[in-house]
Amino acid sequence: MAQQNVVRKEAASVAFENVILDQPETGIYLLTINRPKVLNALNWDTVEDIERAVQSVSTDPGARVLLVTGAGDRAFVAGADITAMANYTPMQAKDYSLMALHAFRNLEDLPIPTVALVNGYCLGGGCELAMSCDWILASDKAVFGQPEVNLGVTPGFGGSQRLLRMVGKAMALELLTTGRQVKADEALRIGLVNHVIPAAELMEKAMEQARLIASKGPVAVRLTKEVAQRGQDMDLFNACVLEGEVFGLTFSTDDQKEGMRAFVEKRPARFTGK
Ligand code: CAA
Repeated sequence: MAQQNVVRKEAASVAFENVILDQPETGIYLLTINRPKVLNALNWDTVEDIERAVQSVSTDPGARVLLVTGAGDRAFVAGADITAMANYTPMQAKDYSLMALHAFRNLEDLPIPTVALVNGYCLGGGCELAMSCDWILASDKAVFGQPEVNLGVTPGFGGSQRLLRMVGKAMALELLTTGRQVKADEALRIGLVNHVIPAAELMEKAMEQARLIASKGPVAVRLTKEVAQRGQDMDLFNACVLEGEVFGLTFSTDDQKEGMRAFVEKRPARFTGK
C-alpha cells in the first residue's frame, strides 16, 4: 500500500501496510506494529513503514509524544521476520541491518519523547525497537530477550550495543550469549523498563504519562530530549556546556515567560510552544 503522507490533526489514523499511525489525542501519536499473525515480526517492509511513520511524526510541529506498541495481546514484536530472512545472502542481511539501523536511529532522534508499550513478547528486533525508544513501559505479561544465538546469528538491529548501554556489559552479555528471556519483573530490576503495569491498564497509564508530557512547555520538552540525546555521546563538561547554552535559549521563548509568570501568580501555565 502506498504511503499516505497527510496526517490529520485529531484522532487521525494514517494507514501503512504493516503499521498503523494514530493520533488518539492532539499531539499524542500511537504507532502500532500490525502483523499480529506473526507476532508483529519485522520484515523489510515493516521496518520501512516504521521509518515512514516516524518521518510523518517528525514533520508535525504539534507532535508532543510518540507511543509505540504491537497489535494484539501476545506480542510487542517477536523479532525480525525469520521466515523472510532465512535465505538472505550476506549482503541482503547486511542491507537489512543497515536499513533498520537508520530507521531506529531516526526514531531515537525524534525531537519528542518516545515510549515503547510492551504488551507481550519483545524479542530480538522487537527488543531492539523498544530500546530505540526513550523508555519502556512493560505490561506484567511482557517477555524480553535477544534470542539470536538460538538461530546462529548475532543481533542485527543494534541489540548488542543498546542492551549493553541500558543494563551494563555483564548482564547484557549474559542475556546475549545465553538467549535467556526475562519477564517484566526482572526487566524492571535490571533497568530495562521504567514501570511494570497490569496488562489491561497499560494503554491508559501510557496515555496518562503522555498527557502529562503534553501539558508541559513543548519547547522545553523538545530541548531537554535534544540535550540528553546529544550529551550522552559527549564528555560530561561539554555536555553540561551544551545544556547551559540550551538553558539560555529557553529564555528567548514565550513559554519561559509564561511558565515563570504562572509560578509567581500561583496558577497553571498556559504554554503555547513559542
Ligand atoms: N519471525 C517470523 N515469524 C514469527 C516470528 C519471527 N520472529 N515469531 C513468531 N512468528 C510466527 C510463527 O512462525 C507463527 O506463525 P504460524 O502461525 O504461521 O506458524 C506465529 O508467529 C505464532 O508464533 P508461535 O506459534 O511460535 O507462537 P508460540 O506462542 O508457540 O511462541 C515465541 C511464541 C516464543 C515468541 C516464538 O514464536 C518464537 O520463539 N519466535 C521467534 C523469536 C525470535 O527468535 N526472535 C528473534 C528473531 S532474529 C532477530 O530479531 C535478529 C535481529 O536482531 C535483527
